[in-house]
Amino acid sequence: MKIAVIGTGYVGLVTGTCFAETGNDVICVDIDQSKVEKLSSGHITIYEPGLEKIFLKNQKDKRLSFTTSLSEGIKDAQVIFLALPTPPGEDGSADLKYILGVAKELGTLIKKGDYKVIIDKSTVPVGTAEKVRKALMDNGGIEGTVDIVSNPEFLREGVAVEDFMKPDRVVIGTSSEKAKIILSELYAPFVRQGNPIIFMDEKSAELTKYAANSFLAMKITFMNEIAQLCELLGADVDMVRRGIGSDDRIGKRFLFPGIGYGGSCFPKDVQALAKSSTEVGYDFKILAAVMDVNEKQKLHLIPSIKAYFNNELRGKKIALWGLAFKPNTDDIREAPALYLIEALLAAGATVAAFDPEAMQNVKQLVGETISFVENQYEALQDADALVIATEWSEFRTPNFDRISSLLKNKAIFDGRNLFDLNKMGDLGYHYVSIGRKVIANK
Ligand SMILES: NC(=O)c1ccc[n+]([C@@H]2O[C@H](COP(=O)([O-])OP(=O)(O)OC[C@H]3O[C@@H](n4cnc5c(N)ncnc54)[C@H](O)[C@@H]3O)[C@@H](O)[C@H]2O)c1
Repeated sequence: MKIAVIGTGYVGLVTGTCFAETGNDVICVDIDQSKVEKLSSGHITIYEPGLEKIFLKNQKDKRLSFTTSLSEGIKDAQVIFLALPTPPGEDGSADLKYILGVAKELGTLIKKGDYKVIIDKSTVPVGTAEKVRKALMDNGGIEGTVDIVSNPEFLREGVAVEDFMKPDRVVIGTSSEKAKIILSELYAPFVRQGNPIIFMDEKSAELTKYAANSFLAMKITFMNEIAQLCELLGADVDMVRRGIGSDDRIGKRFLFPGIGYGGSCFPKDVQALAKSSTEVGYDFKILAAVMDVNEKQKLHLIPSIKAYFNNELRGKKIALWGLAFKPNTDDIREAPALYLIEALLAAGATVAAFDPEAMQNVKQLVGETISFVENQYEALQDADALVIATEWSEFRTPNFDRISSLLKNKAIFDGRNLFDLNKMGDLGYHYVSIGRKVIANK
């Protein structure tokens, strides 16, 4: 099938590459000229495990190409995926300017006699499919030339290729039988193991994505609140997590407490669903609590760090392990590490940071305000304490002898509960984690 993917970011590039991998001819369109030049010359623009290999293979086999021209991209395409940003607007609602801007252009580009399926992969509020249709029709669109479909994307950064190639489910919102047949054919190679393609109306598909992300954000937040209680009551959140997670109705996943969720999806999607609810006169109370708790959770370690240094962080050097909002990605959007950096700098500390993939992105954001080092141990040189913000696997079993020889104080503030409490006690560390006993060694 001939496919155009509009927007070549995390979702668009994975979508385009994976569809090329199953034999389709894919053209990815992006307005960012430097991105298109880089991709066209065989250089991948994001870090995503497993993506580069299939990106290079499909580009070499001429099934995957890149352009800045929308008209060239969609000319021969039977299906057009929109993988465009939907950032929060000032009031928290999803800003549809990118989606509707492209829809308007498509209105002028799709000719009489054509038939194209326009598929929205971006996360968008209920009613967007209808708005896309209107934008297109109001701008020269011709009745009968398009079907608009909502096909929300559930991939997770860090395992995006795996998620795309073997999705738990594919959700397709459309009332068009013709579009259903085309999309069933397109997705068939991805659901061979029997995972479902779930057909529904456009509005339900749009809401499904927000409901999924908000539920997951709520699950994390619930555990963060349980962790707070554990700290106050002297219980251990790891025990509680295991105790409840073995109940199938609750499940083991997404029960790990930490310093809050970040990323480009959960924060904006919870906010957008709350806004959509308000717009229709519904006060979605849980969402307000989720947002409030998560904001505070990002800075949960700061009072413990300050207390350790008797409220005086001026002149202290803090080593920071992890910048990405989660492991296996270079994405730093809404990463808790950024909030920690801001708070530490505001309190007068200096920060030496290491992240396996995300340092370049943070450098662009914060410049020289912190230092970036080559490896996790270099960050510890003359540092007064170590703070861990992302659970990269290489941080899980570090060389503790090396850590103690480099740190000025054996103090670790762990936002991801990486280490065993007994071990940290035996090694003589002052160790603060989330929802577990503080190992005090000062
Ligand atoms: N990142 C994720 O993990 C993820 C997962 C599921 C769904 N989503 C949703 O998918 C959508 C895209 O997210 P993303 O993370 O890929 O965003 P992104 O910011 O990484 O990529 C968007 C791309 O669109 C391009 N773009 C902007 N305007 C354009 C235009 N007029 N024409 C062509 N290209 C244009 C940008 O240059 C950018 O490369 C969002 O709605 C997001 O909520 C994201």
